[in-house]
Amino acid sequence: MNDDFREFIDELLAKTDIVSVISRYVPLKQKGNTHWGCCPFHHEKDPSFAVNQGKQFYHCFGCKESGNAITFVEKMESVDFMDAVRILAENAHIEVPQFKSGGRSGGYDREKKKRLASLMRDAARHYHENLSSPQASTACAYLVRRGIEKPLVTKFGLGYSINGTEIIDFLLSKGYTKPEMKEAGLIEQRADSYYDVFYGRLLFPIIDNFGDVVAFGGRTLKENYEFAKYRNSSQTPIFDKSRNIYGINLLKKKKQRENVDFVIMTEGYMDVIALHKGGFDTAVASMGTALTAQQAKLIKNYAQKVYISYDGDSAGQKATMRGLDILADCGLSVRVVSLPDGMDPDDVIKKLGSTTYKKLLDEAKTLTAFKIETLKKAYDLTDPEEKSKFTVEAVKVITALPNPVQQEEYINLVQSYTGYSKQVLMKQAELSFSESDAPATATPVGKTRESSSDRRAALFMLAAIASEKDYAAVGFDENILPDETYREVYGALCESLKGGGVRMDSMFYALTDGGKALLAEIADYEFMDGDGAEKYRDCLRRLEIKKAEDELAAMNDALKGADKEEQLTLLKKIGSLTRKLSEIKTNR
Ligand code: UTP
Ligand code: MN
Repeated sequence: MNDDFREFIDELLAKTDIVSVISRYVPLKQKGNTHWGCCPFHHEKDPSFAVNQGKQFYHCFGCKESGNAITFVEKMESVDFMDAVRILAENAHIEVPQFKSGGRSGGYDREKKKRLASLMRDAARHYHENLSSPQASTACAYLVRRGIEKPLVTKFGLGYSINGTEIIDFLLSKGYTKPEMKEAGLIEQRADSYYDVFYGRLLFPIIDNFGDVVAFGGRTLKENYEFAKYRNSSQTPIFDKSRNIYGINLLKKKKQRENVDFVIMTEGYMDVIALHKGGFDTAVASMGTALTAQQAKLIKNYAQKVYISYDGDSAGQKATMRGLDILADCGLSVRVVSLPDGMDPDDVIKKLGSTTYKKLLDEAKTLTAFKIETLKKAYDLTDPEEKSKFTVEAVKVITALPNPVQQEEYINLVQSYTGYSKQVLMKQAELSFSESDAPATATPVGKTRESSSDRRAALFMLAAIASEKDYAAVGFDENILPDETYREVYGALCESLKGGGVRMDSMFYALTDGGKALLAEIADYEFMDGDGAEKYRDCLRRLEIKKAEDELAAMNDALKGADKEEQLTLLKKIGSLTRKLSEIKTNR
């Protein structure tokens, strides 16, 4: 981001009051320094959405959404960063200068998107009404055959495209132009005429979490189809397949009424409808692609737990696995449902019934257990060589787990499959940990992670820096902080101190999601009586000691595998680090 632009954003944020921006959407009540309201992002009855006027920052204690005025408008208006900036600039009566931007930001303005959304809504209504026309008899017969009765047709707003041009005439009569229809992904040009891309298909409107129809999925009605079974809207200014989830609008409605304990993630439109019919009304679908981080975040606004209910063939595939890891990385608790061979959820509900499906949900495996099962299927465990290969791979899955208790659980599982002793498996785990470029969060079996008190120490220090306490000296080595997120926020704080003072709101948008969450925690940090210069020094010391001890342990480990010459260098380093450590320890 260039300096002029950053300056402009700072000015915009300085002239914007977050409380009055948010009040336009959410009634707020002031208590002390904080304004409280019901969170618009996860729909709750008791207010846990806090707006901090001093820091120009909001944070929801329920769904953990947080941000500044810009991110708020982005989410509420379903617009991108630049559009949110334009909206706020308009309110603040300042002009958005023209910046040369590298990316494709800006692009479509809000008016254009609104127009496309209204076109799509009109189209969806029309397609839906088509189902009552005598020309829709094939489609109606198909719905009957699939067991989709009237209430479901209404609930999902299903529709039908009668022929190649009828929708065009209808939309023209509503005042839309053909280029607009094309931009919405509804029509394409062939020779010199346009035609409806969904011609002859049963239509599933895809509605986003703001209630806008953003796309369609269309199923052919033919048994032996020449073209794709499903055709989906292409990427448009209002539709990005990797950011949407089919059924999210219904999930949102449900969440407004009651608590959602879990979400069921399926692959297809038909699965969602069948599950809703079977009483599982938190079913959604990923629409045939591997899950993305944006989709994971979307789900997390509604529930903490997600059941993956794919048909057997796709569940074990690499792309699917990556998607499941993304869900887990986002902090969701992932369970994988295993369905009978060759069946999808729709088949299970129809052929085996809801009770059976419920049982399958109850038997769903954790992600780790599922990964180990999948590996097990790929090897013949009666063959000693394959068995050892399986074990090496399974142990790799285990060492990626964040805590020793969980690791132990799955070591036991692998033991039960292979008969190897626990000691051997633990040894293998340590070996595999040191070989891997293990993520920062992983821990070798048997070793402990940095404790939560280290995190508390770091949190206090960053909060003190953010509040510009006079005792909060910066300039310490960022590597003493517990992880990359702390380092990121520390870096950003130092940067903004250099710029004259800490402005959390303007810092905010440059951070990663993890950084944003941490910054929100820092903004909420409540200083207590004992928090002061002495505590700051103690925390700093504690983290420095931890870092030095970790380094020492690593060097000692390295000593084992080193040759004579390397050993000598290492020993020297160990000597000086030990001296440094005892200095830190005695130097209070
Ligand atoms: P499936 O082939 O499993 O279809 O594709 P399904 O949902 O079971 O549909 P029925 O029961 O045969 O009618 C799963 C999902 O993958 C996407 C669709 O989103 C579909 O619901 N898909 C599938 C496509 O986008 N294009 C295709 O050609 C096929
Ligand atoms: Mn199916």
